[in-house]
Amino acid sequence: MFDIHYHLLFGVDDGPRDIEASLALAEASIAEGVTHIVCTPHANDHHEFQPDLNRERVALLEERLRGRVTLGLGCDFHLSFDNIEDAFQNRTKYTINGKRYLLVEFPEMGIAHQISDTFCRFLAMGIVPIITHPERNPILARDPGRMIEWIRSGCLVQVTAASLTGRFGKIAQTMCHDLIRKNWVQFIASDAHSIDGRPPCMGQAYDLLISRYGRPTAERLCIDNPRAAFLGEYLPPQPEPAGIFDAPKAYKRGFLSSIFGR
Ligand SMILES: [Fe+2]
Repeated sequence: MFDIHYHLLFGVDDGPRDIEASLALAEASIAEGVTHIVCTPHANDHHEFQPDLNRERVALLEERLRGRVTLGLGCDFHLSFDNIEDAFQNRTKYTINGKRYLLVEFPEMGIAHQISDTFCRFLAMGIVPIITHPERNPILARDPGRMIEWIRSGCLVQVTAASLTGRFGKIAQTMCHDLIRKNWVQFIASDAHSIDGRPPCMGQAYDLLISRYGRPTAERLCIDNPRAAFLGEYLPPQPEPAGIFDAPKAYKRGFLSSIFGR
């Protein structure tokens, strides 16, 4: 499996405090069958994103892990004004392995309407936003329909492995499964932070996906799509997302009925 959202680097954010804790986390993922991990430190008000330090930490971990898992580098990119402006100036600074996919996280307090324009601008630059864990965002959990416009324009969606298995509660779990059934989701990732508090759980999620949706869906969400993101390639063909490309209601009623109100 490929895990593209992971706080594996020690001492850079609210993930592991030291190298031993990072290694313990990586070992847990290796035991679950993960072969590739994208290390994605936060870039937000609390944690400064430091590319040089991140690369240093990746090298240290790679040395200790000796090829048993392949590490990449990305960012858990908070959609703040400053971050967005910086990403416009530095196209690959925050993307997964400096290529075309960017994990984006919404604030919990409010989502600006201009965010649709931001996503279009990213897409025009060749950066594909991946909306992370909408099931854990109170605004999107209340109104998942807000994602329709973003998905229609080309954004992708990642849900958390532990949300699927119920660790983040019933509401998040139900929403995850709804989104998967509607084919709105392209990636499952762990967003792991620590062995005790936020373990990876990719193995459990993978087994659950096989039992509920079949092996092809599990492989698409945990292997094929995240592999493409890791490598910066286009995703393989995806099933049609339900309800995304439906015509707007007024148009569906027909031109005459919309004039005459029938
Ligand atoms: Fe994260």
